[in-house]
Amino acid sequence: MIAQLKAQLTDMVGSAKDLNALEEARVTALGKKGRITDLMKTLGTLSPEERKTTGAELNTLKDEISALIEKQEQALKKQALDARLAHEKMDVTLSVRPQAKGTIHPISQTMDELVSIFGAMGFSVAEGPDIEDDWHNFTALNFPPGHPAREMHDTFYLPDDPKQTGDAAKKLLRTHTSTMQVRHMMANKPPYKIIVMGRTYRSDYDMTHTPMFHQIEGLVIDKDIHMGHLKGCLMDFARAYFGMDQLPVRFRPSFFPFTEPSAEMDIGCSRKDGGLKIGAGDDWLEILGCGMVHPNVLKNCGVDPDEYQGFAFGMGVERIAMLKYGIPDLRTFFDSDVRWLSHYGFDPLDRPNRATGSK
Ligand code: DAH
Repeated sequence: MIAQLKAQLTDMVGSAKDLNALEEARVTALGKKGRITDLMKTLGTLSPEERKTTGAELNTLKDEISALIEKQEQALKKQALDARLAHEKMDVTLSVRPQAKGTIHPISQTMDELVSIFGAMGFSVAEGPDIEDDWHNFTALNFPPGHPAREMHDTFYLPDDPKQTGDAAKKLLRTHTSTMQVRHMMANKPPYKIIVMGRTYRSDYDMTHTPMFHQIEGLVIDKDIHMGHLKGCLMDFARAYFGMDQLPVRFRPSFFPFTEPSAEMDIGCSRKDGGLKIGAGDDWLEILGCGMVHPNVLKNCGVDPDEYQGFAFGMGVERIAMLKYGIPDLRTFFDSDVRWLSHYGFDPLDRPNRATGSK
């Protein structure tokens, strides 16, 4: 009888086509009310001799059927996995889809390079608002009321802020990042050694001007900073940025209300057949404005000019990107033309290098 039961159960387990059917077979054989369990329950009615042999046989049958179920379960699981793998197979020989590949915009790349160069010189990065007021943009920076330098900035004015009075009520889009000299000095104690990068706005539009553009500003203030530091710092910067150890530079006197003395820095270049080549040559190209911070600016920001002094500089990020990467028209930076972006953009996996070329 046990042999017959074994044959039946073996057949049932073996023919289970999926895990549900197998579970049913397990319940039928070994469940609380299963066939083997039922027989076990009858052992008490048998004589001690019979109980011993039948008990042993039933235990063996239980073990055998359990092992069979286990084996069948493994086989069914493998079958299910194989079926899934066959179904979900992907063809690794398919070529990559020739779709647009993202690139890093030359502005972002250039700003990363600037952070890398100035960061290595010990500068930290500060940020501030695009919407400013007349006081931070002009007055605190020593632009006297009605001074023509204010007009030169082609400022975008916004409606007055009714909650403020005077210069602070006159809202505008910052025309330069120099505003952050003021904000940073007012919010922190000297010494200062920062760069600021961000968007600036002027109402202007041609090959070298767009209403929105980016600037980088630098500010170094301490007790013993002089023009020699300014020159050394900016020479090192220009040589690192353009990747030319021997890049000629010169400083020309200039005027900015917030610096005294003021200068503009030129780098050497040559212009031949309408082309421009940076490096030693017989011509010069202006790249930035700079100077020793005017005592009035320090005073306006709560810094004692008898104790502290230093230098500042500012330049256009697009301008130096155009020079380094040979981009002829500033307006194209903001056209979002995918062909332009893939031509001038940078590989996202590239590290922003401190200098392309030497070093
Ligand atoms: N803010 C000036 C501009 O937008 C650039 C500049 C010149 C910034 C001289 C400076 C500086 O910090 O010292 O034209």
